Amino acid sequence: MQRRMLITGGAGFIGCHVVRHFAEKGYEIVVLDDLSRHGSAANLDHLKEHYPLTHHQVDVRQTERVEALFRNERRFEVIVHLAAQVAVTTSVVNPREDFEVNALGTFNLLECFRKYCPEALFLFASTNKVYGGLTDLEVIEANNRYRFAGLDGISEDRLLDFHSPYGCSKGAADQYVIDYARIYDLHTVSFRQSCIYGQRQFGVEDQGWVAWFVIAGVLGVPITVYGDGKQVRDVLYVEDLVQLYDLAIAHKEKMHGKAYNVGGGPGNTLSLLELLAHLGSEGLQINYDQEDWRPGDQKIFVSDNTKVSNELNWAPKVAPDEGVGKLIDWVRAHQALLKQVLGK
Ligand SMILES: NC(=O)c1ccc[n+]([C@@H]2O[C@H](COP(=O)([O-])OP(=O)(O)OC[C@H]3O[C@@H](n4cnc5c(N)ncnc54)[C@H](O)[C@@H]3O)[C@@H](O)[C@H]2O)c1
Repeated sequence: MQRRMLITGGAGFIGCHVVRHFAEKGYEIVVLDDLSRHGSAANLDHLKEHYPLTHHQVDVRQTERVEALFRNERRFEVIVHLAAQVAVTTSVVNPREDFEVNALGTFNLLECFRKYCPEALFLFASTNKVYGGLTDLEVIEANNRYRFAGLDGISEDRLLDFHSPYGCSKGAADQYVIDYARIYDLHTVSFRQSCIYGQRQFGVEDQGWVAWFVIAGVLGVPITVYGDGKQVRDVLYVEDLVQLYDLAIAHKEKMHGKAYNVGGGPGNTLSLLELLAHLGSEGLQINYDQEDWRPGDQKIFVSDNTKVSNELNWAPKVAPDEGVGKLIDWVRAHQALLKQVLGK
């Protein structure tokens, strides 16, 4: 029998790649996405051209409509929950909406999972923002970047410290996902993801900075750098993340109710200034001005991937130069679409 997967947020950036990967593996794909994100409708059109899928334009906040979807569709073997309000800045402006989409939306899905397909795996895209500002850690300021003093990366042993409404709503969802394994003995896993980048990411100033810088460089749009630009993130190419999701499905017993930090790790880090310099060397000169730091912006976040690497034998394969190169190629080839979607 064909394996069946529900992908919420399947028309978003990461969702697109998840749909592609598992459709190519022969899964029957059901996408739940309200298409609220700019670019999602274009992503969905692209997916529909290439793969058979069923799309439900449903908002995860609509409890009854979410439940009707689970009632009417046949059972799912895997639920990949990606739909979310994804920007910290938006969460600060509208914390109620952020809470309802991220916390209540996840709760709605967990309840349907428990009721209609308790044998399935529930895979949740959490965030490194659950660890907060990390202000107690000593950080060294170098020429173009910050470094941790005496530490390579942040492991899961780090205390949770939800920072910003987005951190709180995703953090609450992360804890519900873990608890549903504990209390109801269901298969759940939470991946606390660092910055993910790649093709089909309609990055904007508020979210998706790697794609935003590349798009700005190709379209010749000036940008604002908030803070001093020395902020460092570990960056993970989206295809590496999708490979991890695939491994998680194969090892769902092992991952039962656990949280894992997932990112590019210490070997794949970039500061904002370093990315700007790299893009310059690729012929993409970007004009930028500078403004004050934004709330919740960590000076540095680097994921310690040891736990997920040891348990699943997974490691990022695509280095930033290669991944950013692929992103540049995609942006160059889709300038008209990007202008239309982003209104540039
Ligand atoms: N991209 C990253 O760097 C990153 C890092 C850490 C965590 N994450 C998490 O990964 C997930 C996917 O991120 P992404 O970068 O693909 O984001 P995205 O914005 O590209 O995709 C999210 C999708 O969810 C849909 N959506 C939004 N609100 C919805 C709602 N109320 N009901 C139904 N659908 C809704 C959007 O239309 C969009 O297609 C999110 O949960 C995000 O928090 C992403």
